[in-house]
Amino acid sequence: MEGLHKHFRLSMLLSLLIIACWMLPSSSSSSSSASPTSRRFRFNVEWKKVSRLCHTKALLTVNGEYPGPTIAVHEGDNVEIKVTNRVEENTTIHWHGIRQFRTGWADGPAYISQCPIRGGQSYTYKFTVVDQRGTLLWHAHYSWQRASVYGAFIIYPRMPHPFSSPPIRAEIPIIFGEWWNSDVDSVENEMIKYGAGPISSDAYTINGLPGPLYPCSNKDTFIQTVEFGKTYMLRIINAALNDEIFFAIANHTLTAVEIDAVYTKPFFTTAIMIAPGQTTTMLMTANQVPDRSGMFAMAARPYLTSVFPFNNSTSLGFLRYKKLGSGKIKSLNSLQVHNLPLMEDTAFATKFSDNLRSLASAQFPCNVPKSIDKRVIVIISLNLQDCPKNETCKGFNGKRFYASMNNQSFVRPPTSILESHYKNLTTGIFSSDFPEKPPNAFNYTGVDPLTENMNTEFGTKLLVVPYGTSIEIVLQDTSFLNAENHPIHVHGHNFFIVGRGFGNFDQAKHPVEYNLVDPPERNTVAVPSGGWAAIRIKADNPGVWFVHCHLEEHTTWGLAMGFIVKNGPGPSQTVIPPPQDLPLC
Ligand code: C2O
Repeated sequence: MEGLHKHFRLSMLLSLLIIACWMLPSSSSSSSSASPTSRRFRFNVEWKKVSRLCHTKALLTVNGEYPGPTIAVHEGDNVEIKVTNRVEENTTIHWHGIRQFRTGWADGPAYISQCPIRGGQSYTYKFTVVDQRGTLLWHAHYSWQRASVYGAFIIYPRMPHPFSSPPIRAEIPIIFGEWWNSDVDSVENEMIKYGAGPISSDAYTINGLPGPLYPCSNKDTFIQTVEFGKTYMLRIINAALNDEIFFAIANHTLTAVEIDAVYTKPFFTTAIMIAPGQTTTMLMTANQVPDRSGMFAMAARPYLTSVFPFNNSTSLGFLRYKKLGSGKIKSLNSLQVHNLPLMEDTAFATKFSDNLRSLASAQFPCNVPKSIDKRVIVIISLNLQDCPKNETCKGFNGKRFYASMNNQSFVRPPTSILESHYKNLTTGIFSSDFPEKPPNAFNYTGVDPLTENMNTEFGTKLLVVPYGTSIEIVLQDTSFLNAENHPIHVHGHNFFIVGRGFGNFDQAKHPVEYNLVDPPERNTVAVPSGGWAAIRIKADNPGVWFVHCHLEEHTTWGLAMGFIVKNGPGPSQTVIPPPQDLPLC
């Protein structure tokens, strides 16, 4: 570790500056006025030369920042973000987890709710943040652009936090990401062309910084100064493309208080598991006595359930206790985070998820549907498609990888589904017949992957439900190719995770064991590897909503579906008219 310490001062200064900028509201967000305000932001999507791991490349960014700027607003605010596309390729931005009540036009997924913003054009996303508070994220929702186009989306509550705690000294954003030395477009294109898995990223990052375990990265280390005895709010975001992540801070305990912008019953933990698309707000008191360095390491590395090649490296950052110690790491021991789970620790991941419960207080009730109108069973599969004649396929056994839900591999159409739906166009770009159960029943988690026919079908089939339907979706993993943890994200709605388990879902046995009292409410659920998760949604947001695996490689392979919530009879139960500047395809 020689040479490490001499970079610390500079990088510490830099990170402090970065943090200072982060905490600075970009206009007037520090005012806590009680009436809704309009908050305006400008996002320019542009290239910026960035170096990490001794590789310099043009990185797609918002306003030249990596990670991108923080959006900070208050609950109830009207938000307008003018996105200008200053590059040749198309783009869109998604406000991940924002409900977008009636404003699907502002949701962002390309070809689902809008046509992409073309080079040189602008589009203003307009929406209101209603009944959500805490940490979310925003990211590009066009091909793999979210590899570098992402940032925090913070919603300050109108009422004080419900968790009694010592005053919060500062907020610390902790955003995980992945860095590729090569161009991410070409990683994606290779994978699409040959049907193989994508090459793994070269580093994990904390706030865009890989940390000292990677080549040339000592100066690119996240260091957060803390004061002894003070309590901090960690806003943890997993913006990685393809990896679930374990995170811990050496010696320190964390208290979970909010997930996906919904308060939880507080609980202590020594580490967390966070899937791509998920956010977790933790409180941490700086109450440990550091060694002579004055530093404690924090570490992020993957939670691994896949047999595919992956990036098994670790991103380190540091807490630096103010006025204690030298700020110089002298011993390897200071780089250890003993409370970080091992990469394959499914038991830890399961226990952590089981501990997450909605707060379910009088002020913040848990509105889980107690009864349902419809149960849909969806199997999640990785597929191996026979190689078309005259093509080269580099997936397993000379075939192509795909992925599917109920054996439908989702194909994004060339134009916006929401627009077609809204205008009642018979464009034929989608159909309303997504299968409500698997095409045939089999032992989902017990198949022998090598003897099974793993071909899938392709299409753009959506599930259509009337306004107000209480719907349960059982997400069932399969062992096609291999069982894997899949973070399934639902646009436009939060849901309640009423049950989870390993093996196959049993309709006779499992529903009676559901938690209908204080299940966690989220927008992204990590479906257990080789298991299932049952989620309940009150479909009260009219529009067209994407549902997909938040591992980007799986979305590319088609692990997605869409659902349409029809307009209701009431005046506030319809999709609002499309904005004037809605991009054209
Ligand atoms: Cu965070 Cu459809 O994505």
